[in-house]
Amino acid sequence: VQADAEWSREIRRLAEERDAVLLAHNYQLPEIQDVADHTGDSLALSRIAASSAASTIVFCGVHFMAETAKILSPDKTVLIPDERAGCSLADSITAEQLREWKATFTEAGRPAPTVVSYVNTTAEVKAETDICCTSSNAVDVVRSIPAEQDVLFCPDQFLGAHVKRETGRENLHIWAGECHVHAGINGPELADRAAANPEADLFIHPECGCATSALYLAGDGNLPEDRVKILSTGGMLDAARESAAQQNGPHSVLVATEVGMLHQLRNAAPEIDFQAVNDRASCRYMKMITPAALLRCLREGADEVDVPAEVAERGRGAVERMVTIGR
Ligand code: 13P
Ligand code: SF4
Repeated sequence: VQADAEWSREIRRLAEERDAVLLAHNYQLPEIQDVADHTGDSLALSRIAASSAASTIVFCGVHFMAETAKILSPDKTVLIPDERAGCSLADSITAEQLREWKATFTEAGRPAPTVVSYVNTTAEVKAETDICCTSSNAVDVVRSIPAEQDVLFCPDQFLGAHVKRETGRENLHIWAGECHVHAGINGPELADRAAANPEADLFIHPECGCATSALYLAGDGNLPEDRVKILSTGGMLDAARESAAQQNGPHSVLVATEVGMLHQLRNAAPEIDFQAVNDRASCRYMKMITPAALLRCLREGADEVDVPAEVAERGRGAVERMVTIGR
């Protein structure tokens, strides 16, 4: 299937026929982003999914994102073009492991901790969670919890380290999960690229293994602190627009995240030269949503995503808290 003008017209026609809104994450293939009604980060897309009037949501992203939409809108039909599009980070903690972790506190006679789970988790993990967060609002979510309360943060260790650094909170306990794509963007690689591009700003997603080392490098004076920005994918777009609007905005920006992000950044600020820190950082799950898969999805009404009603009910409060906190 060619993602040409004819394909694009057919996608739009079928979407209308199904009363479907097409949502695409910033890591999707460029042609999928371009045909969608909305592109965005996990938080923005969850908010759109929750408020859309369409009876069907087609989620061009990974499975946990479609599940989150279904939890928020149980009466809508939620479709994903390929249900095999999983997430290595969501797979790094199970509901059983989370229950056991919580129990270590109560069994030691301590008050039950508050569980904050990244949205990159299964619906079953969300059902064991007090508040979900995304990379855009993780710091605000943790700040919303009384200071004396123990917080369990799962599953991403690098986002957890970023939140701990920002909040200075000693009672934040972090699960040791990671995303294989972001963890692979490492410190030495970043240091080399930054040294070779002394004028460039650095946009770093907090899931990256290099997020922590970037700040150490900045602390050592090897990297001016004002060049390093730790941002969600939506935050990167805002920062790109802002720096393009400034007369003397930076000429080049090194981007440490999944490479799909470059498409939106280049569209938002064509005058800035965006370069990937690691151009092999491509998420094979995100790329399962091909033009052919999207066409089949709209023609056949598949793959449909369902979350058992009992699990959805237990997870809904945590997801609703997430969409109301932060920008
Ligand atoms: P955000 O779009 O929320 O920054 O999330 C990044 C991500 O890894 C989604 O899979
Ligand atoms: Fe999951 Fe990482 Fe892929 Fe995002 S980039 S969907 S966190 S595996």
